[in-house]
Amino acid sequence: MEFAGKTIIITGGSSGIGKATAKKLSDLGAKVLITGRSKERLEKAANQIGCAWIESDVSKQEDVNKVFDWVAENWSNKLDVLINNAGLGEFASVEETPIESYHRVFGVNIFGPIMMVKKALPLMKGKKAGSIVNVASTSSMKGFANGSAYSASKFALRGFTQSLMEELRPFNIRVFQVNPSEVTTALGNPEREERKEIDFKLGPEQLAQTIVSVLMLPEKAFVPELSVWATNPRN
Ligand SMILES: NC(=O)c1ccc[n+]([C@@H]2O[C@H](COP(=O)([O-])OP(=O)(O)OC[C@H]3O[C@@H](n4cnc5c(N)ncnc54)[C@H](OP(=O)(O)O)[C@@H]3O)[C@@H](O)[C@H]2O)c1
Repeated sequence: MEFAGKTIIITGGSSGIGKATAKKLSDLGAKVLITGRSKERLEKAANQIGCAWIESDVSKQEDVNKVFDWVAENWSNKLDVLINNAGLGEFASVEETPIESYHRVFGVNIFGPIMMVKKALPLMKGKKAGSIVNVASTSSMKGFANGSAYSASKFALRGFTQSLMEELRPFNIRVFQVNPSEVTTALGNPEREERKEIDFKLGPEQLAQTIVSVLMLPEKAFVPELSVWATNPRN
């Protein structure tokens, strides 16, 4: 697809993978709306990128509704691409993970994309066109110690994505799942500080490149799922 003039929502676009993807798509001429919880981080990122922003916690239905009210008002309900990128990582052993943590992580990583998709579908189905990218994780395929909440939420996202993909192909709507392995970002850091890119480890830029590349395929083609690994991260 060509990006010039396309309308694209990226949840969690104020740092990391979402921000790098928003920059690339804006540079290619797309109209991009980024979301996140912190107004300060959003304003700062949007100024660097040259895109629109809206404060919205993806785990809250009223905040999700706000995003789509914005789309109605500013883009006359035209939505070409939805990138469900916002994610939350809380990592501890099962015994040390309070039940509230499972609720928080599931709220952002699975209920968030579900609520976003349910609002996007009428806009895309009406036009029989659209693309949805769900940013999951390699932990959507294999659990790891101290990752039960995160990994279980991403397994759920993978199941949701596969079902959605089958439902939407007859409407010419493409659904992609991208699985990053470890990327040097603020994920899991309650201070939300961005990490410096480390030689040999993946940075947000490589994931942005992946997301843009799969979207760039002509609309009659899509890649259902792909994982991105660093070649030799323990170098
Ligand atoms: N980094 C990795 O190693 C890695 C590996 C596999 C998969 N992933 C996935 O990649 C995606 C992007 O993460 P990242 O690594 O780029 O992390 P990041 O730098 O922490 O970025 C996360 C983004 O999501 C936003 N966000 C967090 N909670 C949100 C909420 N409830 N509602 C709306 N926005 C929210 C953050 O902004 P605010 O904090 O201001 O809300 C930020 O813009 C996530 O889905 C993550 O699970 C990352």
